[in-house]
Amino acid sequence: MKSPRIVLITGATGGIGGALAEAFLQAGDHVVLAGRRQEALEARQAELGSPERTGLVVMDVADPASIHSALQTVHERWGHPEILVNNAGIAISAPLRKGEELAEAHMAVNYHGPRRLLEACLPDLLAQGRGHVVQIASSAGLYGYSYTSAYCASKHALLGYTRAASLELRSKGIALHTLCPHFVDSPMTQASIERIQQTTGQSANEARAALEAMNPDGCLVAPEQIADLAVECCARAKSGDVWELTGEKVEAVASGFALDPPRPSSESTS
Ligand SMILES: NC(=O)c1ccc[n+]([C@@H]2O[C@H](COP(=O)([O-])OP(=O)(O)OC[C@H]3O[C@@H](n4cnc5c(N)ncnc54)[C@H](OP(=O)(O)O)[C@@H]3O)[C@@H](O)[C@H]2O)c1
Repeated sequence: MKSPRIVLITGATGGIGGALAEAFLQAGDHVVLAGRRQEALEARQAELGSPERTGLVVMDVADPASIHSALQTVHERWGHPEILVNNAGIAISAPLRKGEELAEAHMAVNYHGPRRLLEACLPDLLAQGRGHVVQIASSAGLYGYSYTSAYCASKHALLGYTRAASLELRSKGIALHTLCPHFVDSPMTQASIERIQQTTGQSANEARAALEAMNPDGCLVAPEQIADLAVECCARAKSGDVWELTGEKVEAVASGFALDPPRPSSESTS
């Protein structure tokens, strides 16, 4: 019998992380939950209820030393991950010019974290000649939103990096997939609802409705939809796809996001 694939999921204590862990477990994989808080990881592992096919590791993706030691633990206990899901992220809103620290914090967690982790996993992925990396980016990687310049910039950076990496790795058996959900029904959005309440005096229902109305389909994205798409992507060899999740619908974002830059056509060069 084929042994289960090792799937490393960052941000596994969060809303989308929990759904991702559940979905990969359902797919028969061995899931390693990564996050900064041991107790929260243990609670998530207990909720999942499959101790024989789950493991946990403490990792701060903003800290290169923490990534290094966590990956060493993963290798020693479970082997090398065949699937990496870069899901950990932060989103703190602020107007322009409020943000030197915020800009750096967002880049550290949302861009440099996934980049470093991918590159740290790369030697094993290349040695095996197969593997998948799923980047949980955001619609903020496709569009701009007011008061979230640090978040938008970090997710645009992640998308740009992933498109370049997809090209570099596409002949090597490693597939990269970028998922860009609009507002998701998760604790991160709950925190936004609380911030809106504080700044505008709106009720929780009004603040939630305002965020729902910002999504193209008028409803929040379900974490399970993101998780199912991640599993589906890892069942395909195709690399480089960017997916937009608008509330109800899921679309491959092709136009404007072609992997290869335009080149002179053969007619015009001959
Ligand atoms: N919620 C949305 O509307 C939405 C929309 C589009 C994209 N996304 C993206 O989806 C991903 C997951 O978001 P979510 O909605 O599930 O948010 P969440 O419930 O707030 O979870 C965020 C997760 O990231 C982890 N994390 C934060 N900083 C970290 C660090 N320095 N090192 C390691 N882990 C860290 C947190 O873990 P600990 O605090 O336990 O360490 C937590 O598990 C993020 O990348 C987010 O940008 C979210």
